[in-house]
Amino acid sequence: MKELEEKIVQADCLETLEKVRVELFGKKGVMAAEFAKMKDVPGPEKKAFAEGLNKNKAALQSAFDARFEVLKADEIERVLKSEEIDVSLYSTLAKKGALHPVMETMDKIIDYFVALNFAVESGPMVEDDFHNFEALNLPKYHPARDMQDTFYFKDGGLLRTHTSPVQIRTMLETKPPIRMIAPGTVFRRDFDVTHTPMFHQVEGLVVDEKGKVSFANLKSILTDFLQYMFGDVDVRFRPSFFPFTEPSAEVDISCIFCEGEGCRICSHTGWLEVLGCGIVDPNVFKAVGYDDVSGYAFGLGVERFAMLMHQIPDLRSLFEGDIRLLEQFR
Ligand code: PHE
Repeated sequence: MKELEEKIVQADCLETLEKVRVELFGKKGVMAAEFAKMKDVPGPEKKAFAEGLNKNKAALQSAFDARFEVLKADEIERVLKSEEIDVSLYSTLAKKGALHPVMETMDKIIDYFVALNFAVESGPMVEDDFHNFEALNLPKYHPARDMQDTFYFKDGGLLRTHTSPVQIRTMLETKPPIRMIAPGTVFRRDFDVTHTPMFHQVEGLVVDEKGKVSFANLKSILTDFLQYMFGDVDVRFRPSFFPFTEPSAEVDISCIFCEGEGCRICSHTGWLEVLGCGIVDPNVFKAVGYDDVSGYAFGLGVERFAMLMHQIPDLRSLFEGDIRLLEQFR
């Protein structure tokens, strides 16, 4: 009896315990064999014999039940442990953030000019008429003001329509020579496939003594810059007009999609317009009180660069906040 109880207690897993159960309580088990002995027990002793057997059986059964509870609990514990998930562990599937393509493009542009020792300047997004227009040779009622649909505040303030006011602010605050860029957010009342009311520009301005800054300098630096941005492209300067530069040019690169053959994106011209630039108009220098200086300036739209570099067809998708767009730039 002790020996049998011992077997139960020593079973170290449910499987072993099951074997012990068959051995003890099975059809051909120890208990069955004991009960089979009943028929050989003489009549008067039968009752006592049976009572003894039943008592032993009950004791074994409760020992078994107790052991079963313990082993079952162990088993559950073991399974739970093996399936445990440590939510605090670092996952290799964790999503990393990414720079927005507009900011990434902006950084790439800034890197180029910083390497050439240009200072990075900034100015307010809420501007006044003087810095955004007047000082840039855009007097009131000048027809060129219509080129830029402006958001006005009731008090006459406005959201800057370009980064050019930073030229004015920098010239008013410092003395030449100046070599600066001004990356920033600008606003215009425009909304279609290639225009959003908020977008980004990078402005450039170089000012030095009269005769030291030429259109040739401008041409060479912008050509190199555009090849840094777009690879091996042709660059051409087309005469244009800006109130704050004279002469002015718009700059095209050979179409990076058809390599100049002509396609839908370049409107079958083989060229993509990417920049505005020119020699700083004397009236701008007059407005900031600069004498005997020469300079060049340029301005570009960062979204346009990003769209071309990443072949993004609809500008608006850059600002819809759809994470699936950003995931493509991780
Ligand atoms: N400010 C002009 C624009 O927003 C771009 C420009 C800047 C052109 C500097 C010439 C010189 O379109």
